[in-house]
Amino acid sequence: MKVLITAGPTLERIDAIRFISNRSSGRMGYAVAEAARDAGCMVVLISGPVTLPVPQGIKVEKVESAAEMAAAVFKHAVDSDVIIMAAAVADYTPKNKSDRKLKKTPGDLTIELERTEDILLTLGNNKPEGQVLVGFAAETENLVKYATGKLQRKNLDWIAANDISASDRGFGADANEITLIGRSGQQINIPLADKKTVARRLLDIILPQ
Ligand code: CTP
Repeated sequence: MKVLITAGPTLERIDAIRFISNRSSGRMGYAVAEAARDAGCMVVLISGPVTLPVPQGIKVEKVESAAEMAAAVFKHAVDSDVIIMAAAVADYTPKNKSDRKLKKTPGDLTIELERTEDILLTLGNNKPEGQVLVGFAAETENLVKYATGKLQRKNLDWIAANDISASDRGFGADANEITLIGRSGQQINIPLADKKTVARRLLDIILPQ
């Protein structure tokens, strides 16, 4: 079984030394990749910039921006049995990127941002028969409502919703608690645990038997 996983943040360049990114550590996606490898799957991990070591036995493709992540994902998507989008992909990127360092000028600066492609939405719109597509939703409020909206809008089979309002879990933390929501509305709670344990439980549920 071929499992494609994304992890980490993306980094959107402003100029030669400045960028927009987020606090995703990549640990949840890497833990899912390792658990899938341990379950005997062929794993491809598309990783944004993180400080984690490359896990043994996993093909890792490092990318930087949302556009690079999109290209790498689409290259592998067609023949993947399962795709898990754990990456925190930037929704916006600077419209103009400078190769040089921008010099300051008097007064304020406005940086114009444009939307990036929603990788998961494109995958959902082109999903081959039998492929299992899983998204993540990090929310600070209305967890189930917002996550269910994303599941439906992006034609997913599962969405792993996590509440990021507490600093001890989810985004950038060691542990996580997930509410897994399925296509037919079923909700399965994966209780607070280290990310490796949560990753194993998640795969137990979503991997086709
Ligand atoms: N995602 C993606 N491509 C993007 C943005 C997000 O594939 N350009 C994926 C993420 O990997 C994650 C899911 O979509 O699996 C998150 O859904 P999304 O609606 O984009 O969440 P947010 O970016 O948090 O959006 P919002 O600000 O509306 O909450």
